[in-house]
Amino acid sequence: MTRLPLFPEQASTVAGQVDALLFFLLGISVFFTLLIAGLIVVFMVRYRRRPGVDYVPETHGSLALEGLWTAIPFGIAMVIFFWAASIFATIHRAPDDAIPIDVVGKQWMWKLQHMEGKREINELHIPVGRPVKLTMTSEDVIHSFYVPAFRLKQDAVPGRYSTMWFQATVPGEYHLFCAEYCGTLHSGMIGRVVAMEPSDFEAWLSGQQPGEASVPPAVAGENVFRALGCGTCHRADGSGQGPSLAGLFGKSVTLTSGETIVADEGYVRESIIHPQAKLVAGYQPVMPTFQGLLSEEDVMRLIAYVKSLKAEGGS
Ligand code: CUA
Repeated sequence: MTRLPLFPEQASTVAGQVDALLFFLLGISVFFTLLIAGLIVVFMVRYRRRPGVDYVPETHGSLALEGLWTAIPFGIAMVIFFWAASIFATIHRAPDDAIPIDVVGKQWMWKLQHMEGKREINELHIPVGRPVKLTMTSEDVIHSFYVPAFRLKQDAVPGRYSTMWFQATVPGEYHLFCAEYCGTLHSGMIGRVVAMEPSDFEAWLSGQQPGEASVPPAVAGENVFRALGCGTCHRADGSGQGPSLAGLFGKSVTLTSGETIVADEGYVRESIIHPQAKLVAGYQPVMPTFQGLLSEEDVMRLIAYVKSLKAEGGS
């Protein structure tokens, strides 16, 4: 099957599972199509109108038959449901040790950033045999990150974060497509994913990039944080007008509404863009909005910086 030119190679841990489900669905469809079309032809010939033969039938209901042809499709539908749901759950739950990579889609390119500092455009280098988790958003319209060889596709949506994870199994270069029509040069929004042996990947990762390009996002985020004067209110010791950010990421936060939420990427982003949307209990709505003042990449850098702040007050 991998010889078929229209069928991309299987290069991730989920590719085989997705293909197996696809072939099961295809098999079921082909079986019933042939069965029904075949019976139509057989009955057409066998019960055609002929002189001297009267086929006006006597019909009897059969509860057993009704039950059977209700139960069989139900059973098939349930097999498809649980099978697909289990693959869906696998695809949507990233392992905790996945390598985090930030992705911003914009007309018409993919911008990617490794936490060690390397930045890439329309290219993603990853090691094989290790889970990788992409956190994605868009600077403008909806794009979709599609790697056929991994059998994975995920929308990058402006104003929110979506995630996608995979583990490459075979070193090589794979197509990366934008799979959501996003404007004039949508068809040119393509690139490649380079899966490398872990040692090659480490060498690539530590290779030099010119200038600012290799600053880790947490460090770049700290520079943005300083430049915007965020530290005036968000003091590490909690004495400022805004809550301390030290050790915040991943913790539960109590809001003025009494609601409790977990401080994840989406929450931190919203608190930068719409500070009043989820106000932390005990604080005044004094923070200005940074909507339109920060690129999505800068917001991701700020989040990387907030993530790096440990509870001891490491700022
Ligand atoms: Cu981006 Cu289509």
